[in-house]
Amino acid sequence: MTVRGGARPIITVQQHILEHQRHFPHATGEFSWLLSGITLATKIIASHVQRAGLLDVLGDTGQVNVQGEVVQKLDELANQTIHRCLGYRGNVGIVVSEEDDEPRVIHEAGEKGRYIVLFDPLDGSSNIDVNVSIGTIFSILRVREEINRQDVMSQVLQPGVQQLAAGYVVYGSSVVMTYTTGMGVHMFTLDPSIGAYVLTREYVTMPPKGKTYSINEAYRATFPQGIQDFLDWAKSDDAGGYSLRYVGSLVADFHRTLLKGGVFLYPPTKKDQKGKLRLLYEANPMAMLAEQAGGAASDGTGRVLEKKPSALHERTPLILGSKGEVEKVLLFWKP
Ligand code: AHG
Ligand code: MN
Ligand code: MN
Repeated sequence: MTVRGGARPIITVQQHILEHQRHFPHATGEFSWLLSGITLATKIIASHVQRAGLLDVLGDTGQVNVQGEVVQKLDELANQTIHRCLGYRGNVGIVVSEEDDEPRVIHEAGEKGRYIVLFDPLDGSSNIDVNVSIGTIFSILRVREEINRQDVMSQVLQPGVQQLAAGYVVYGSSVVMTYTTGMGVHMFTLDPSIGAYVLTREYVTMPPKGKTYSINEAYRATFPQGIQDFLDWAKSDDAGGYSLRYVGSLVADFHRTLLKGGVFLYPPTKKDQKGKLRLLYEANPMAMLAEQAGGAASDGTGRVLEKKPSALHERTPLILGSKGEVEKVLLFWKP
């Protein structure tokens, strides 16, 4: 769409959500109100990420989280920021965070708390202190009317196909928000001069193939044999020349895969027998984005989105990316 004189229209994420939610069967303004809470939080996080060396946000807090990982100061700041921005939206009933042992019920919202927001406040924590891209990942579910609202775990342990929306923000050379509400994948770049996310790409589709695989090959010896066989094939002449790209931040590795094609793999390892990535707030949101962009997301046995979660911080193997490339991995790996 161009306006008179060919100038490109400026479409903010709020405007885009409002336009999109008109097509939503049960949409009300409250959905865009909820998403604007997330965009506000990520703008605050972005401002800290970009001043990390100047503010006392580098390094760790000396605490260990429920994942058994050392909590970085920026992990904690991001977590608190998202809670503060979402907690008073009025329509969020439950918040789940990678950094919190248990779900947080927002009692003040009462019956109006129709949404559940699940998030990884700071993804790629090991990259914070070395100025490599990191991100925030979010997933939105609806509170199920047919389930007792007090039965919090049954409310949050919904399969990924139930997500209303999912997205991430990558804090890189620019700050980019990518989201879907089930009607395509759309990208916005934060314009720091106006403090708004502006639409930069609409209906993003993932290339059906891609000659990049993304995996931490340091764990090769403990990958399933089928994954090792895939890696040997990818390096062989008849594979046609793959390259390896691995940032170590899921958000950055997925963002590249979404734009350029290829496949990201985090298989089971000796250390993480079910894979390292968390189903509810890492794998499921990325899987919704991948499928909405024409790609695929498998745990080796089936669609990630169809997995019925059994625990809040449950981990899953993840093969994510171009449909053709995910299929190639699954030709070698049949768990
Ligand atoms: P988080 O920082 O939220 O714990 O996530 C880190 C994850 C993910 O971002 C990345 O793909 C993966 O850990 C990297 O794991 P390895 O360092 O084991 O490769
Ligand atoms: Mn993460
Ligand atoms: Mn994290």
